[in-house]
Amino acid sequence: MPRMPDADENLPEHVRANREAWDRWAEEYVEPGRRAWSTDEVTWGIWGIRESSVRLLPEDVSGHDVVELGCGTGYVSAWLAKRGARPVGIDNSPAQLEAARSFQKEFGLDFPLHLGNAEATPFEDASFDGAVSEYGAALWADPYAWIPEAARILRPGGWLMLLTNSPLVILTSPDLEADGPVGTTLLRPYFGMHRVTWPDDTSVEFHLPHGKWIDLLHENGFDVERLVELQPPEDATTRYRQIASIEWARQWPSEEAWIARKRG
Ligand SMILES: C[S@@+](CC[C@H](N)C(=O)[O-])C[C@H]1O[C@@H](n2cnc3c(N)ncnc32)[C@H](O)[C@@H]1O
Repeated sequence: MPRMPDADENLPEHVRANREAWDRWAEEYVEPGRRAWSTDEVTWGIWGIRESSVRLLPEDVSGHDVVELGCGTGYVSAWLAKRGARPVGIDNSPAQLEAARSFQKEFGLDFPLHLGNAEATPFEDASFDGAVSEYGAALWADPYAWIPEAARILRPGGWLMLLTNSPLVILTSPDLEADGPVGTTLLRPYFGMHRVTWPDDTSVEFHLPHGKWIDLLHENGFDVERLVELQPPEDATTRYRQIASIEWARQWPSEEAWIARKRG
């Protein structure tokens, strides 16, 4: 029998905090979600970098069972479905899933959506050929919990693509969002980076130094195939100007994607 989602009071403290935060922010993600659902072109991250220029996904995903961990409004799953994959989305926020369900109706595309924590999913062992997370579990779930879970639900040879902020962004962002985007001064330690909170917000993020990502992926049966440090094109724009300017992001990576494969 499929496992029921945990009641809020049984969730880890950071998962509860992030559910509350994402239910609050969901409305701001409806219009960007609709724009992403209404195009077939796959683009990534805060700069909308084209998949055709970075090739983060396998060339052919048709027939792949793919889980999106922290699917939000579900547009990455929708893109995968349009490329012939069988996506399944899981997200921790009822409000984000409500938007995803409304887009499924609006755009006539259906795939399973689950309310739940990517660190402890309801899926059977070895259920998926691929797992993807664009700023979902990749940023908001504890990697020491969700990477082992992704390894459990992937089949041998399965692929993992996660995209998140670069550690440089976390090191150079001022404490308060109001104090502007990233600068060129290191403001906090790199060693020991893991659970990250900000004084003006109740949400909980997770970021790891590169060496820790490599160890964690390796220990959970993944071979790292690529670390893609994303550089936006000169004319790229973002609605996340509070994170980084284009001048900054052209010089240093503001976001990165890890591509790994579960050993067969
Ligand atoms: C930024 S959205 C990601 C979706 C989309 N790619 C995007 O960038 O808008 C982040 C999503 O992660 C979800 N999330 C946060 N913690 C999660 C967890 N522990 N398990 C599953 N989803 C989680 C949030 O509810 C939110 O919908």
